[in-house]
Amino acid sequence: MPVLMCPPTYFGIEYEINPWMHLEVPVDRAEASRQWKALCATYRDLGVEVLFADPLSGLPDMVFTANAAVVHGDRVVLSRFRHSQRQGEEPSWARLFESWGYEVSDAIGIPFEGAGDALFVGDTLFCGYGFRTDPRAIPAAGRALGVETVPLELVDPRFYHLDTCFCPLDSRTVLLAPNGVSAESADRIRRLVERVIEVPEQVATGFACNALAVGSTVVSSTALEALRSPLAEAGFRVAGLPMSEFMKAGGGVRCLSLPGVGPRDRARSAPAATAEPAARPAGDAG
Ligand code: ARG
Repeated sequence: MPVLMCPPTYFGIEYEINPWMHLEVPVDRAEASRQWKALCATYRDLGVEVLFADPLSGLPDMVFTANAAVVHGDRVVLSRFRHSQRQGEEPSWARLFESWGYEVSDAIGIPFEGAGDALFVGDTLFCGYGFRTDPRAIPAAGRALGVETVPLELVDPRFYHLDTCFCPLDSRTVLLAPNGVSAESADRIRRLVERVIEVPEQVATGFACNALAVGSTVVSSTALEALRSPLAEAGFRVAGLPMSEFMKAGGGVRCLSLPGVGPRDRARSAPAATAEPAARPAGDAG
């Protein structure tokens, strides 16, 4: 399972599009680079191949690759960002997935923020709406990918993307911060998923749910350590990493990672991304 990341070369707070971002609270770029590199190193230690997209100046949130698209098998549905500040990313993500040989669909044409709002539990796509993704985009994405969707209403602006309050760990286990979704949506999750590990609000605001499970290791921010015992009971161990600089932009581990993507046909591999480790982009980042 490769993971797509984008170096934080141009990362910063240049606008405010979620309640975490404050122009007067800038990012420490050197620290951001250290945190991002530690995440890459953690993935590699877990045996995950890390692929890099080329960062572009003027697109400070490109580092959040989770928002590029949602992917299933050979098919990709590209994001249509709600805010103009991020729409400049769209052509790069389209080029990357096309060059990788995916069947790319962007037919939706209404706001849809990719794997930030659309997460698979098994083969079912759980989709958040209310802040970024338009609810009408959800059935359209499901049709394009040929999968069933479960719409979930997000209700707390701090949890503006589904991946800030909900995280599938395997096909029968999820993390859920119930205050991020409506009561009906929380009940729907509890009905559909066998094991729901509930995350207290103050743990979720530390971006604990913004996690990626690599086998039985859950990689997330240091806030995840509060869930060590329920996770251990469910058979998971915790890898908690400092994410302070990315949290200033409203992001954490999962936002920085788009798992399960890469060249479908290595021969047509993208000029816009590289699997080279010491990566020039990673090197540039700090
Ligand atoms: N500043 C970015 C935005 O507001 C953060 C995106 C975080 N990504 C995520 N998948 N939750 O769009």
